[in-house]
Amino acid sequence: PSTGAPRPPLPKAELHLHIEGTLEPELAFALAERNGVKLPYATQDELRRAYSFADLQSFLNLYYALMAVLRTEDDFADLADAYLARAEAQGVRHAEIFFDPQAHTARGVPIGTVIRGLARALDGAQETYGISTRLIMCFLRDESADSALETFEAARPYLDRITAVGLDSAEVGHPPSKFKEVYALAREAGLKCVAHAGEEGPPAYVWEALDVLGVDRIDHGVRSMEDERLVARLAADQVPLTLCPLSNVRLRVIDDLAAHPLPAMLDAGLLVTVNSDDPAYFGGYADDNFTAVRDALGLGEETLRTLARNSFRAAFLDEATRAKYL
Ligand code: HPA
Ligand code: ZN
Repeated sequence: PSTGAPRPPLPKAELHLHIEGTLEPELAFALAERNGVKLPYATQDELRRAYSFADLQSFLNLYYALMAVLRTEDDFADLADAYLARAEAQGVRHAEIFFDPQAHTARGVPIGTVIRGLARALDGAQETYGISTRLIMCFLRDESADSALETFEAARPYLDRITAVGLDSAEVGHPPSKFKEVYALAREAGLKCVAHAGEEGPPAYVWEALDVLGVDRIDHGVRSMEDERLVARLAADQVPLTLCPLSNVRLRVIDDLAAHPLPAMLDAGLLVTVNSDDPAYFGGYADDNFTAVRDALGLGEETLRTLARNSFRAAFLDEATRAKYL
């Protein structure tokens, strides 16, 4: 029925979320003030007006610039806590959170400051918000393979806090195979592996992520649909794909939401999930993405439940916890 109390959002896991991409203008200005950092925008509205992107790189330029306000352990804890509060309201019960250590160490912020700050917020998340959490450490693919290796070594003292490694930033020209060595080290250390592939880059990058890096999930992977053999492989192995529909529209990976290949991907038997990527920049958090694809693509209740269920199937959860959600 269309009347009565609004229904709560479906319980879901969020598997593709950059914590630096949850930095809302309000918090950016508050942290700028706290740390004496001068932002090149006079007001929050002026900053918001800069959120108009032509492609991935134009977004990344602003994303990295705004990180200048993140300096202390408290800053990272406040950032993650603000995300978790929003995630709870969106039905998120489990969050696997990316962070970009090189974007901070390059500015002189030690990796320990980043990880300890994030971990402090995550440690309270189950009790405060009813959300279980994991951390995924991402390498910037437009930095060198050596820089990724140095980052991994710097993170060794904190590996008990880290569940997986990932790969993000400017995709084209930086194929997954560039990071073969650091992914081998991560796997040896017992970490799971994911990688952004097939967002702006070609299906060949998805093949490399699977066959050279040995990833457990593909982040985005929308361009996989251009390669029939790849679709068959992803379906046969039930490799999870973490789609981010609102991100795809804002970064012009697709023309508009009504043209999103999500329904075709489900029809092809792919294990797809819906996520928010950089929600402060792309216009919505986890359930906002569910609602947006529902409305633009006419998805029914059963399909939305499948997407929510897929998020738990694809999560790095122990089987007893996963079973609670399936
Ligand atoms: N793609 C690649 N790198 C990123 C993204 C993205 O959507 N968001 C933050 N870093
Ligand atoms: Zn992403």
